[in-house]
Amino acid sequence: MTLSSRTGRSPRAAASLAAALAVLGLLAGCTPATSGVKGTPGAAGLRDPYFPKLGNGGYDVSRYALDLAYDPGTGRLDGTARITARATQDLSALNLDLSGLTVGAASVDGAPAAVSRAGDELTVRPRDELPLGREFTVTVDYSGVPEPLTDADGSTEGWLRSDDGAVAVGEPAGSMTWFPGNHHPSDKAVYEIALTAPGGLTALSNGVRVSSGKVSGGRVRTVWRQSEPMASYLATVMIGRYATTTGTALGSVPVVTAVEPGLVSATAGLRAELPGILARQQERFGPYPFGAAGAVVTADGLLGYALETQTRPVFPAGSFDRPTLVHELAHQWFGNSVTPETWRDIWLNEGFATYAEWLYAEEYGSVPARRSFETAFAEDANWAFPPADPPAAENLFDPPVYQRGAMVLHRLREAVGDGVFDELLRGWAAKYRHANASTADFTAYAESVAGRDLDDEVWEVWLYGDGRPEKP
Ligand code: TRP
Ligand code: ZN
Repeated sequence: MTLSSRTGRSPRAAASLAAALAVLGLLAGCTPATSGVKGTPGAAGLRDPYFPKLGNGGYDVSRYALDLAYDPGTGRLDGTARITARATQDLSALNLDLSGLTVGAASVDGAPAAVSRAGDELTVRPRDELPLGREFTVTVDYSGVPEPLTDADGSTEGWLRSDDGAVAVGEPAGSMTWFPGNHHPSDKAVYEIALTAPGGLTALSNGVRVSSGKVSGGRVRTVWRQSEPMASYLATVMIGRYATTTGTALGSVPVVTAVEPGLVSATAGLRAELPGILARQQERFGPYPFGAAGAVVTADGLLGYALETQTRPVFPAGSFDRPTLVHELAHQWFGNSVTPETWRDIWLNEGFATYAEWLYAEEYGSVPARRSFETAFAEDANWAFPPADPPAAENLFDPPVYQRGAMVLHRLREAVGDGVFDELLRGWAAKYRHANASTADFTAYAESVAGRDLDDEVWEVWLYGDGRPEKP
């Protein structure tokens, strides 16, 4: 799905334009009349500045339907992925990102397709070429024991196996360990995730639960539907023993919380605050972007950090505190609805979610945002690099992205004043709702609301500058 094309900046928009021009060329008779349309393979990566092979070119996914059966005893996952996409070029073959696992069969629109693998790239070659604009469904059967990824910063992500189940997370690249897909944040899609697991375990994913029923072998199949667009790094699965509660927030949004059974009473108070935090954030950031909400608290040791998985953020027990809850809920607007165009734009997630913590502390903890700014300003680690340009993949989640990212927003607030800043936060979330946005989109948008250029006042020093400036 490509809502980002409204910005006119995305590489996929450029690709579709080129493809459209190619068609015009054909219509104008610029190609020898004897040759039919000759498709070429879609690119094996979208040339992200940090992960050049992440994602794939030549098509745009609108929907994933994943049917996953998991055996916690053996760790084996049996999956079928049905991926509905539209060709953005004449395609002779297309790639999907997939790490590990064994691919059984693949088909395109029901016709068997040839598959080959090289590293994390799965190539599917349909029997008939897919012309530009054609909508198609590729189906991949796969199985195996998923292996998590170790990221450049040493953290693990992907399908993480626990004693009684698993938790799957994927920022930035781990989703390729449990389903084949176009695993770059610029290709958002809707999802339906069906989980078959032993009865007696809880099986959660993103969005709303649409059905649950017994199947063979004492197992239960539960279907979850995420009907607003989602970047694949925000897809999640939690299977295991959990104590769950359901409720509502914002009038009608179903809330599911699930906690490791030993944590029920320790987490009850904070879980009860979730609807109130969302309600206040909705006043600040505009309409909550999704039809479901919740939180999942896992035993410590499985996951190294909390993550804003869409509608259902996940927290290791030791990170389930108020600031982190505020942070992950704020990501539902900033990151999940307004999603980075590339991983270089990650400060648009982390700077905003950190600033949401500062706003919360200002309102409820009597810590003015100016004081949070000064604390961050004093910390040497926050000055390692400018937030708009992390030096390498291993730095994407380093302090400058979070703290200097939030400092950019505070300087912006001081430049434009509280009223305009409030309008700007809401307007940004509205303008790029369910789409992708880049740093350049943000600076242009902020300047359009402020009514003036902000290069000297804010961007040059705070967003792009090296090192610590004079304290303002
Ligand atoms: N995005 C997460 C958050 O701040 C944190 C996160 C994701 C992270 N991947 C990471 C932190 C890797 C450190 C390392 O909500
Ligand atoms: Zn975050």
